[in-house]
Amino acid sequence: MTRGTFITFEGIDGAGKSTHIERVAQLCREAGRAVVRTREPGGTPVSEKLRELVLHEPMDALTEALLMFAARREHLVQVIEPALARGDVVLCDRFTDATFAYQGGGRGFDWQVLAQLESMVQALPDGALRQPDLTVWFDLDPHIAAERLASARVPDKFESQPADFFAAVRAGYAKRQAEMPDRFARIDAAQSMDAVGANVSRVVGAWLGRDGA
Ligand code: TYD
Repeated sequence: MTRGTFITFEGIDGAGKSTHIERVAQLCREAGRAVVRTREPGGTPVSEKLRELVLHEPMDALTEALLMFAARREHLVQVIEPALARGDVVLCDRFTDATFAYQGGGRGFDWQVLAQLESMVQALPDGALRQPDLTVWFDLDPHIAAERLASARVPDKFESQPADFFAAVRAGYAKRQAEMPDRFARIDAAQSMDAVGANVSRVVGAWLGRDGA
């Protein structure tokens, strides 16, 4: 039985991850795999509506965490699990590590409550938890990220946070990596675009090889 491959992309705002996802999609297609590209919060009509709310309206920290996980549940049920069951590669721009990093690290919301929500929302029928097979973490100093963002678009609720918020988000990612080191690949996102791209291709290529693709 073919089983799909679930790859997520993470990092603070301005780390540049989005630019590299298309390259990974091409790499996967060249390896003969069907690819589903998606994002969080979002990825279904309901989840995209929740994204609009959560990225633009001020709200209580638990409400924010619940909406992230509500959007995620819908996304898992409607898109991610069916794609993995077909044997596709799912490339997801952010997933649960972002909730631990932003709501847990950045906002200082209770890590254990997030873990409870994770175990409820990502439970599989056999009792295991759905987790990414591989998480590519674009790690970058928040001051460099802020410089990159300054020249970009109108910031959303998170992008307009100060550098110390992003330092806490970064620490949240580091804590998640320490908890689940096997699935994390940390990429130094301060390098040139080409160097980062080459590293990402190497990591994903090695993983696809290991996966027998
Ligand atoms: P992002 O992925 O950067 O999309 P875009 O590049 O289109 O702006 O934006 C999503 C924002 O949502 C980002 O600031 C991180 C935040 N976020 C959370 O706070 N918690 C989460 O669980 C997720 C998935 C995202």
